[in-house]
Amino acid sequence: MRHLTATDIAAFERIYRLNLVNGLPGYKPANLVGTRAPDGQTNLAVFSSAIHLGSDPAVLGLVTRPTTVPRHTYQNIKDSDGCYTLNHVPFNLAGPAHYTSANFPDEESEFDRCGFTAAFRDDFPAPYVAESAISIGLRLREEHPIFNGTVLLVGTVEHVYIAEKGLRDDGTLDLAALNTTAISGLDGYHEVLAPLRFGYARPGQVPAAVKN
Ligand SMILES: Cc1cc2nc3c(=O)[nH]c(=O)nc-3n(C[C@H](O)[C@H](O)[C@H](O)COP(=O)(O)O)c2cc1C
Repeated sequence: MRHLTATDIAAFERIYRLNLVNGLPGYKPANLVGTRAPDGQTNLAVFSSAIHLGSDPAVLGLVTRPTTVPRHTYQNIKDSDGCYTLNHVPFNLAGPAHYTSANFPDEESEFDRCGFTAAFRDDFPAPYVAESAISIGLRLREEHPIFNGTVLLVGTVEHVYIAEKGLRDDGTLDLAALNTTAISGLDGYHEVLAPLRFGYARPGQVPAAVKN
């Protein structure tokens, strides 16, 4: 087994390090973040950093890269009363979703360039992705700067839209049925299988450990 230390990682060539470290968390969710500038220009970008931060109230986090260079997503969120949307990437559109990460000029919308449809729903100012089977409307509540220059954006969930077949009777989401995508590293997109489910774990239900 290969052993890598912090010193080894720091000494790697930049792209090698980027590839390696981006894979360390394992599979990540694939989301398209939809925003709109005050002049009406829409923006769409793939993000793999969405995390659950709490259910009551419903709070999700998103990590944005250092804002030392202009970030349309971040700026639009700040300029539009904190509103943005998260839209799960349908696996059949993983390629177009990936290309939203290209550096398009201000006046070009990734919705148009990458072939997604902007949908405006229930008076929310940020655009949803019509092709997504799950979309969430969020409002920025807090920003936490991280020591390395990235920023954790903490948003409260204001709206959720789910295709009926993806919502089970117990409230769990059937992400496989919805064709939602998982990401590995910076350019790997995975189709997912139906899960094995075990329910809420109680001590009395834990089987005796099996030794190989
Ligand atoms: C697979 C993948 C995952 C990404 N995840 C993030 C992320 O979590 N946070 C982030 O700031 N950028 C992420 N990016 C980069 C953005 O998609 C990219 O910087 C995009 O151009 C941002 O656009 P903007 O300037 O319109 O905000 C990711 C890119 C790829 C390809």
